[in-house]
Amino acid sequence: MKSFRHRLLTTILIWIGVLLAGLLIVIGQLFPIYAETHNTAEVWLMLFFVFVVAMIFSAIIGYRIIQVQALPVENVTQTALELAKGNYRARAFEYSNVGTVELSSTINILARNLQEITAIREMEQERLKTLIENMGSALIMIDRQGGITLVNRSFMQEFQLAAEDIDGKFYKEIRIPYELERFIEQVFMTETAARNQLEFKQGIHSKHIDVYGAPVLGEHEQWLGIVIVSHDITELKRLEQIRKDFVANVSHELRTPVTSIKGFTETLLEGAYKDPATAFSFLEIIEKESNRLEMLIKDLLELSKVEQAGFRVDAVPTNMKNLIERVGEMVERRLEEKNIQLKLQLEPVIVQGDPNRLVQVMMNLLVNAISYSTSRTAITVRLYQQDGEAVIEVEDQGIGIEASEIGRLFERFYRVDRARSRNSGGTGLGLSIVKHLIEAHHGNVKVESEVGVGTTFTIHLPLAS
Ligand SMILES: Nc1ncnc2c1ncn2[C@@H]1O[C@H](COP(=O)(O)OP(=O)(O)O)[C@@H](O)[C@H]1O
Ligand SMILES: [Mg+2]
Repeated sequence: MKSFRHRLLTTILIWIGVLLAGLLIVIGQLFPIYAETHNTAEVWLMLFFVFVVAMIFSAIIGYRIIQVQALPVENVTQTALELAKGNYRARAFEYSNVGTVELSSTINILARNLQEITAIREMEQERLKTLIENMGSALIMIDRQGGITLVNRSFMQEFQLAAEDIDGKFYKEIRIPYELERFIEQVFMTETAARNQLEFKQGIHSKHIDVYGAPVLGEHEQWLGIVIVSHDITELKRLEQIRKDFVANVSHELRTPVTSIKGFTETLLEGAYKDPATAFSFLEIIEKESNRLEMLIKDLLELSKVEQAGFRVDAVPTNMKNLIERVGEMVERRLEEKNIQLKLQLEPVIVQGDPNRLVQVMMNLLVNAISYSTSRTAITVRLYQQDGEAVIEVEDQGIGIEASEIGRLFERFYRVDRARSRNSGGTGLGLSIVKHLIEAHHGNVKVESEVGVGTTFTIHLPLAS
C-alpha cells in the first residue's frame, strides 16, 4: 500500500522538478532582458515569487492526484485484506467518475458473492447440526485413526459423558459400555455395516440399545472412518417382557383349574362316582373350577376389549348415587357372609359415564374390599363433588397393601399374595380392567393403603355437562 503512495509521491516530485527546470529555462531566457531593466533585489524577489507560485500549483495538482488515484486503490486494497481475513461484509467505496470505480465494484461483487456463499454454507451447516442434535438417536463418528470427530447430545446423555470426556479422545479411551466398544471395534476393523441389539448395565438398571454402524466413504470410495447410531429400546424390551409374562400368566391361570377339573373327573370315572357323598363333593369342586375358568376367560376377553386402541365408552349423564346403591344390593349376599357393614355416604351427583361400565368398576372395587377384609368390619362408599369433578371413595378396614406393592397393583395378574388372592376367587385382572375403564372415561383412580388398617380407592370422574 505504502509503496503505491511512495511511487506516486516520487512521480509528483519528479514532475515538480521538471516543472521547475522548465521554469528556470524560461526565466533563463527572460532573465537577461529583465535584469537589464531591474535591480538585483527585484530579480531575486521575482524568482522567489515564481518559485512559490510553482510550488503551490504543484501541491494542488499532487493533492488532486492522490485523492483521485491513491485513495480508491488504498480503499480497495483494505477491503480485499478484510475479505481475506474472512470479513465478508467489508465493501469498497465506489467513487464516481474515477478510473478505479470498476476495480471497486468488482471487489464489491466478489465480496457479495463470498458473503452469500458463506451464508448458504452456514445455513446448511446449521441445518445439519440441528438434524444431528435432534435426531433422537445417539450418534458418534470416528475417523480413520480411531479419533472421535463428532458426537451428538443424545450420545452424551445416553452414555453419561461430558464434553471433556470426548474432546480429542480416541474411541477406546472414552467410558462407554464394553459391549458397545466391541461393536464399534467390529465395524472399525471390518469396515462393513452391521446392526445389533446390545444389553448392558447402567447403574443398577439394565439397558437395551439397538445399534447400527457403517463405514463413512468419501469421494472415490475412500474410507474416512465409521459412524455409529444407537437407539434406546429399553422401554420396548420392557413391553415385550410384559407381553411374554402375560402369556405365561394366562397359561398358568388356565392350567390350574383345568388340571383340577381333569383330576377330579378322572377320579370320578375310576369309581369314585359310586360313592354319592364323594361324587357330590367332587362335582362341587368341578363346578367351582369351571366357574373360575369361565370368569377368567370373561375377564380376559373384557381386558383385551378395553385395552384395544381407540376403545370408547358410551358416556351419558348417569345418576351415580342410584348406581352405587344398586351395586350395594348386588353384593349384599357377600356382605352378609362375612358380616361386613356397608356404609353409603352419597350426595346426588350426575356423572358423564357408561352405566354398565361404571357398575363393573364399582363391583370390582366392592368385591375386592369385601375379599380383602376380615369379618365384622365396615366398608364406606362416599360420593361427592369437588373442583368440578365427581369423587368416589371406597374405603375398607381390611388387610391393607404394602406401599411397595401399590405401584404394580393395576398390572395384569398382579396380586399381592398369590395364594390368598386366588382363594378369594378373583382373576387378578379386576383392577387392570377398572383402570382402563376409568381412563376411558377421562378419569383417574388412586389407592391409599396402610397394612392392617385398610385401603381406600379414590376415583375421579367428569360430571355430566
Ligand atoms: N381392597 C383391597 N385391600 C387389599 N388388597 C387389595 C384390595 N384390592 C385389591 N387388592 C390387591 O390387589 C390385587 C389385584 O386385585 P384385582 O386386580 O382385583 O385381582 P384379584 O382378582 O386378585 O382381586 C389383589 O390380588 C390384592 O392383592
Ligand atoms: Mg378383584
